[in-house]
Amino acid sequence: MIIVLDFGGQYNQLIARRVRECNVYCEVHPYTLSLEKIKEMNPKGIIFTGGPNSVYKEESPRCEKEIFDMGIPILGICYGSQLMAYMLDGKVATAPVSEYGKTEVDVKADSKILEKVSSKTVCWMSHTDYIEEAPEGFRITAHTPVCPVAGMEWEERGLYAVQFHPEVMHTQEGVKMLSNFVYNVCKCSGDWKMDSFVESSIATIREKVGDGKVLCALSGGVDSSVAAVMLAKAVGKQLTCVFVDHGLLRKNEGDEVEAVFGPAGPYDLNFIRVNAQDRFYGKLAGVEDPETKRKIIGEEFIRVFEDEAKKIGKVDFFVQGTIYPDVIESGLGKSAVIKSHHNVGGLPEHVDFKEIIEPLRLLFKDEVRKAGLELGIPEYLVYRQPFPGPGLGVRIIGAVTPEKVRIVQEADAIYREEIAKAGVDKGLGQYFAALTNMRSVGCMGDERTYDYAIALRAVLTSDFMTAESAELPWEVLGTVTRRIVNEVKGVNRVLYDCTGKPPATIEFE
Ligand code: XMP
Repeated sequence: MIIVLDFGGQYNQLIARRVRECNVYCEVHPYTLSLEKIKEMNPKGIIFTGGPNSVYKEESPRCEKEIFDMGIPILGICYGSQLMAYMLDGKVATAPVSEYGKTEVDVKADSKILEKVSSKTVCWMSHTDYIEEAPEGFRITAHTPVCPVAGMEWEERGLYAVQFHPEVMHTQEGVKMLSNFVYNVCKCSGDWKMDSFVESSIATIREKVGDGKVLCALSGGVDSSVAAVMLAKAVGKQLTCVFVDHGLLRKNEGDEVEAVFGPAGPYDLNFIRVNAQDRFYGKLAGVEDPETKRKIIGEEFIRVFEDEAKKIGKVDFFVQGTIYPDVIESGLGKSAVIKSHHNVGGLPEHVDFKEIIEPLRLLFKDEVRKAGLELGIPEYLVYRQPFPGPGLGVRIIGAVTPEKVRIVQEADAIYREEIAKAGVDKGLGQYFAALTNMRSVGCMGDERTYDYAIALRAVLTSDFMTAESAELPWEVLGTVTRRIVNEVKGVNRVLYDCTGKPPATIEFE
């Protein structure tokens, strides 16, 4: 195992992820982790992350100096490299010129960390301080015109440092550098796989829960499904999963979730389905404002969940399918609120439990998917496109009614079916039908109609922060349009949304 000591940088989990991609298990811990604890964990190597501070300032985060004498190889990155230099009596100062972004770095041929890296290589820099002088004993292994020590190492002591960020994609040979560290320096065997993560998580959860009672809010989405199945494997009948059907799911989705996770499915989840459609429709009646709708749905979800939890009585642990990007997003909190996102499964206030278990907290979405496959969850569930917590509530513009839910469910089912049939779903980040609140005149069978327009959307995106509208084949759009106007009562027009994000968002509300 490799331990990443977190000094507050932005890319800390990315370092862990890159190490895991080398098939070496890796965990991120705060820089305050004690030396005793480190010894107990017996890592093959330690990585110090970047961070926003200046090492020479009194209040800056530091580790204990003895860490350098433990005989465990250490790689310092950015702030981590400056910390290593500073604590071992080198000189760190404000650089005369800051370096940000892609920077060409000159590399020495005989460096262990930079072995087989090109002599001039593009690296991602982001620093205002720099190592002015390497401590005695270190060899300088890389530099740039403005950074005299972009890399340094002391092979005999197993100490390595780089000013740039090898974990970031823009560092073109970063993966090579990290694998040099984990394999050549730390001698990791590289036999860790997602199945070991799943197995060890199950063992840890089992130990933690003991004979306690566990409650999980299951939405049927990838994250909560993977968390629930993992918990079921760990604690069996001590787990209860509550699935709230808010009546805003896609066509047949509630039944599909129940078929997989309910009593007839392969898992023993103690599955409780709550059909709360009427409660949600009642609260949403006549409400048009998007933010108010979102808040009502989020709030009502929690209330329904609490009511159900009260029937179960006291539980010891509450499970959440939080994944790493959720952790970063909730940590930022500085940007303007575009929409109040909520994940069904948010924290209930009045449920009595002593601890939260978040088994996927360290993983990125694609890693969660791998864990899901390891746990035997069917591929079609593991690779589902994201579905927002407020569901169709944000795909129906204006007030929600059961009739509008029916229209959008049917149109969406046709759209998804035809996209799959035409095999054009690969590479699409998300695609769905939404109900515009617009009615327009049409003629069907010589009769005048005055019906709704459905909007189809398909976007290309990997991070869902920005997106482009996908160019779907005209034929496919034609087939979908024909089927929707013929088969879905109440629709006489189909529109395709060509807008990217920004300026639009992916969902309509
Ligand atoms: P927007 O519409 O903001 O959506 O461009 C970006 C991504 O987030 C999903 N989304 C949500 N997911 N709770 C969620 O769990 C929400 O309240 C929510 N709103 C939007 C959306 O489907 C897209 O993938």
